[in-house]
Amino acid sequence: MSYICPLCAEPLSQNDKAYKCENRHSFDVAKEGYVNLLPVHKKSSIDPGDNKEMMLARREFLNKGFYQHLSGKINDLVSELSHGAENLLDIGCGEGYYTGRLAESLKNNGVIKVHGLDISKTAVKLAAKRYKAVSFCVASAFDTPFANDSFDSVIRVYAPSELTELQRIIKEGGFLITVSPGPKHHWFLKTVIYSEPKKNSDDNDSLDGFKLVQSERLQSLINISEASDVANFLNMTPYAWKLTETQKSQLCEQGVKCELDFKIQIHKRC
Ligand SMILES: C[S@@+](CC[C@H](N)C(=O)[O-])C[C@H]1O[C@@H](n2cnc3c(N)ncnc32)[C@H](O)[C@@H]1O
Ligand SMILES: [Zn+2]
Repeated sequence: MSYICPLCAEPLSQNDKAYKCENRHSFDVAKEGYVNLLPVHKKSSIDPGDNKEMMLARREFLNKGFYQHLSGKINDLVSELSHGAENLLDIGCGEGYYTGRLAESLKNNGVIKVHGLDISKTAVKLAAKRYKAVSFCVASAFDTPFANDSFDSVIRVYAPSELTELQRIIKEGGFLITVSPGPKHHWFLKTVIYSEPKKNSDDNDSLDGFKLVQSERLQSLINISEASDVANFLNMTPYAWKLTETQKSQLCEQGVKCELDFKIQIHKRC
């Protein structure tokens, strides 16, 4: 796998501390080790993606292991699907929790290279600082800086993406593993916010150019008792904006028992 230039689509090669294409476009490697391949004119805002507050809340919360079983499940699935020398991508990787743990779990499985991409520079900076075995870049999932057929598997955990890009960068026979909210995900919080909460769809997603080969749900109940953990839980989700300050303080004070329902699907590129 090699990066392509976000300006002219020619291959980028790394020399010293920068990636360069034959048209002399150059992208510095940051001190944390990531490369920013999101040209200014392709940014939708000054600081696109999840903001720093959400990112730090997510990192603190995930650090406590509340979603570790999901990470373990992803690692097992990728390991079962992989066959030696592989290029993997975590698209919309955030602060790198799943990406870093994936790289760690696969480090003895042949020559596997794990990449992470996110549009948020804050997220990628945090990720690259902590997970040195992963190659991170700042870029948009809608216009990725990768050559055609670059990846054997791509994971996408609660992140947006563009189907044509996934079709382009995943090799024939390769896999896309998606994690999205199942029907009962975060049900308790929804009952606090909405008078008539609605379940997420349980439909299987069918993606053009892919065959759905596996679909399952990973359901559990988490018990979050410490106020700081509850605050991080709320702040890493869009619910933070929907709850009043009083509701938030009450939840932090009394703790939260909440349903987790992850819908995990494996799509094979055909
Ligand atoms: C809900 S978070 C999930 C992060 C990570 N996968 C996780 O589960 O911890 C969604 C992520 O998608 C990123 N994102 C949003 N729009 C994006 C885009 N157009 N391209 C790449 N990443 C994007 C956000 O910055 C954020 O990190
Ligand atoms: Zn170029």
